[in-house]
Amino acid sequence: MNCSVYAGREMARARAFESIWDHELEDVFADVARYYDRANIFATLGLLNNLRGRFLSTVAVKPNDKVLDVCAGTNVIGIGLLQREPTLRVQAIDRSRAMQEVGGAAARSQGLHIESAIDDVHRLPFPDNSFDVVTLQWATRHLRVIEVFSEIQRVLKPGGHFYHCDMLRPANKFIENAYCLYLTACTWAVSRAFRSQAAALRCRRYFTDAIRMFYSTEELSHLLGELGYADVAGKSVLFGTVAFHRARKA
Ligand SMILES: C[S@@+](CC[C@H](N)C(=O)[O-])C[C@H]1O[C@@H](n2cnc3c(N)ncnc32)[C@H](O)[C@@H]1O
Repeated sequence: MNCSVYAGREMARARAFESIWDHELEDVFADVARYYDRANIFATLGLLNNLRGRFLSTVAVKPNDKVLDVCAGTNVIGIGLLQREPTLRVQAIDRSRAMQEVGGAAARSQGLHIESAIDDVHRLPFPDNSFDVVTLQWATRHLRVIEVFSEIQRVLKPGGHFYHCDMLRPANKFIENAYCLYLTACTWAVSRAFRSQAAALRCRRYFTDAIRMFYSTEELSHLLGELGYADVAGKSVLFGTVAFHRARKA
């Protein structure tokens, strides 16, 4: 495996953000959990729900499949999949107990069951070859990508699929600058409207900085290929500000 191009970027991302990843984000999501789903709708005028629907429609599942939702947050992906295929066995994992409490209540209110693990996703506490499908939405910017994507590959069954969606860095610099301006305005408006606490306020700038150092759609496809995934497909959405990726464990 030759990941040298990306190993350099990963080191730079870790140098820039590891203190936020390791010490601040847990407090941010502990605060954000109470308004996370409403804030997403507010900040994107409902667009995020539309994107989630489009992403979910790319996820192929069969009855009784074992699904792992990484960085599951408030369980929007697990709930969406179970509504479509109630025989799935869905395991969520997230470091934030607060986000998972909101997600667990949301699932129960619809009569759905999602197993929850509260843990860091850089070491997935599951055996090799144990899931048919793994999903990861809106969180990879906060992670050491090579470590987490390798762990996902380990826990996937051979032939199983990884489905990924996140905000990415647009390949076009003009769009990147416009996008970062929009994100700065959004984080400011959300923090005012939902009275964010100190940790979330301290991290406002991080949310745009993380995009500027992140991957484009094409780079993320290439990285998945370098890690040994097969049949990698990446689809840019909204001028490359978001992308859906699918990859198979060979
Ligand atoms: C923006 S939310 C996305 C939640 C959900 N996937 C969605 O689509 O709404 C990011 C989530 O990633 C989780 N997270 C961030 N870093 C993590 C880590 N190292 N280990 C586990 N969870 C992490 C946060 O706790 C948070 O719930």
